[in-house]
Amino acid sequence: MKLWGRILWTLLSGSRGRRGAPQGWAPNSWKPRSSLSGQLNATEVVSHWTQVFEQRGIPEARKSSEYIVAHVLGAKTFQSLRPVLWTKPLTPKQLQYIQELCSHRLQRMPVQYILGEWDFQGLSLKMEPPVFIPRPETEELVEWVLEEVAQRPPAVGAQSGPLILEVGCGSGAIALSLLSQLPESQVIAVDKGEAAVRLTRKNAQRERCNEGCLALVPWLYGWTDCEQWLYCWSKKGSFPSWSLKPRVMAYILCSPPPPHLSRLQLQDRIRIVPLDITSEGCWTHLLPWGPIDLVVSNPPYVFHKDMEQLAPEICSYEDLVALDGGEEGMDIITRILTLAPRLLNASGSIFLEVDPRHPELVSSWLQSRPDLRLSLVAVRKDFCGRPRFLHVRKSAA
Ligand SMILES: C[S@@+](CC[C@H](N)C(=O)[O-])C[C@H]1O[C@@H](n2cnc3c(N)ncnc32)[C@H](O)[C@@H]1O
Repeated sequence: MKLWGRILWTLLSGSRGRRGAPQGWAPNSWKPRSSLSGQLNATEVVSHWTQVFEQRGIPEARKSSEYIVAHVLGAKTFQSLRPVLWTKPLTPKQLQYIQELCSHRLQRMPVQYILGEWDFQGLSLKMEPPVFIPRPETEELVEWVLEEVAQRPPAVGAQSGPLILEVGCGSGAIALSLLSQLPESQVIAVDKGEAAVRLTRKNAQRERCNEGCLALVPWLYGWTDCEQWLYCWSKKGSFPSWSLKPRVMAYILCSPPPPHLSRLQLQDRIRIVPLDITSEGCWTHLLPWGPIDLVVSNPPYVFHKDMEQLAPEICSYEDLVALDGGEEGMDIITRILTLAPRLLNASGSIFLEVDPRHPELVSSWLQSRPDLRLSLVAVRKDFCGRPRFLHVRKSAA
């Protein structure tokens, strides 16, 4: 009940907080063109900001503009807005809020940070700079892990799903999406970044709250405040929770979720541990929870020399520690491979997201370390056809 009260307070204490927009950014000098102050509808505003972004060389101009306008109108995407909202004139408040968010985009802030939330594997996760924004290809890593888990025969006498260690959890995207799809599993999520650990905790709590709210939808039919919410839900299953009016949100949040609504219990099945895996003896912190069935990681793997080619969106806003993998991008990868055999069970596996140059580098590194008893058993390509995911298995002694 304490948690519900806190969430309720956050929601009622001002629209900026509610919408998850970035707080404390300096006011921007960008002024809207005079044509924007008239009776403009959402479609016209999207076109206006697309043009401004294009003129200023902002990547993905139209998408950025659509996401921002949709967000202000309570939807996840422009296409999922109720069609009537495409042509309905926006209020001065909405126009002002759109301008405020677009001014952050003009400063190359990623859309995910501007909106303050992003979807990953059907979960709506809070995004806060400088915590790494989950990339679409990482969803393929999660899908591969899920396929492998589905194919494994359950261990004799096992009561539950696999115990998973995620190294470098960031926003919690991998850990929470695995948990949400493996209801019997538990995850230990570690990260050396304080901000990442905090955000994973927030997202674990948030998902619990979303589960409750989602299942309360039928109670809300007939409430006109929920029209856009219900429209989005029926179209895409998306969840623009902030678009609910405080009265409705207060009602939802004050009602403790019935027991069956907490069935996924993400928060109860995740241990979030602040840990630098390069620190001496760090594995001893993890040992008591083992043996572990799977290690999953999207580690920092960018070659140091490639760091300077990263887009301004990344360099200026994301934590570079999340990306820089050292000279050949292998620093954290080799650390994980060195630690994992001590933590994994006899036939445990490691799944990694890597750079396309890494399958070969990892394969020859493993050959130079037969003492680890690990073999690279499969390499998978991403949606662009590049070899990006590795499955490494521990072999019997
Ligand atoms: C590429 S990000 C991945 C984040 C998240 N798993 C995802 O896919 O969105 C790498 C993460 O590893 C963490 N990290 C970097 N070095 C680490 C270390 N030595 N020990 C633990 N975590 C580390 C970073 O803080 C960052 O959150």
